[in-house]
Amino acid sequence: MIRLDKYLSDSGFFTRREASRLIRAGAVSVDGSPCRDPAHKIDEDAASVTANGQPVGYARVRWFMLNKPADTVSTTDDDPKSVMNLLPPELRRIGLFPCGRLDIDTTGLLLLTNDGPAAHDLLSPKKHCEKTYRFTCLPLGDEQIRRLEEGIELADFTSKPCRVTLDDPLRDREHGTIAVTEGKYHQIKRMFLAVGSEILSLERTVFAGIPLDPALAPGEWRPLSEDEIALLHRNPQTGGSHGHS
Ligand code: URA
Repeated sequence: MIRLDKYLSDSGFFTRREASRLIRAGAVSVDGSPCRDPAHKIDEDAASVTANGQPVGYARVRWFMLNKPADTVSTTDDDPKSVMNLLPPELRRIGLFPCGRLDIDTTGLLLLTNDGPAAHDLLSPKKHCEKTYRFTCLPLGDEQIRRLEEGIELADFTSKPCRVTLDDPLRDREHGTIAVTEGKYHQIKRMFLAVGSEILSLERTVFAGIPLDPALAPGEWRPLSEDEIALLHRNPQTGGSHGHS
């Protein structure tokens, strides 16, 4: 059971003060009857709530996908380049944070959530959560690809086996995708440097089986669907197909 004003602000659409004002103004109904008491307790799982006639779902845990543009930072710090500035104010108040980090110049799929335990679980090396990146690089030879795929010894760790696919290997050795199950600092850039190539651009296109929505322009975001959220909670070792569906 939670207070009606908290229910509304947890939905992410209103601040607590806006919620309280709406309730006192009689614009909020619970199970079909107007309720003017912000402290009124409701069952967040069973109550049907509307504000200004529109249904408001209770969503304590929220997930969004953002198409991260270049020159933005994956941080919740008060930084003018923070990805959080791409969200509207009401979504900046519900405790969202980026699930993992992309470098300032890396673009593409970044998940944002306020579900700390689930994010922690997804980012844990034990989860082997697969991430796919599109890259442009200095030309890659077959031997370099073999070494990348096998695992590279870097200063502080050895990368796990991964998959590297060139788009058109007979004609173009500079564009492709790499699918990794780890997320160490500058990992892909460091792996390419270690084999004598260099990443020139990097875009994340898949995270844990969820592809970047092609309808999202850089800087745009949308909530994850229920099916996408279910993908995040599956266990890849007990039945997930690794991700390009
Ligand atoms: N690897 C990198 O080097 N950079 C990123 O942003 C993500 C993976």
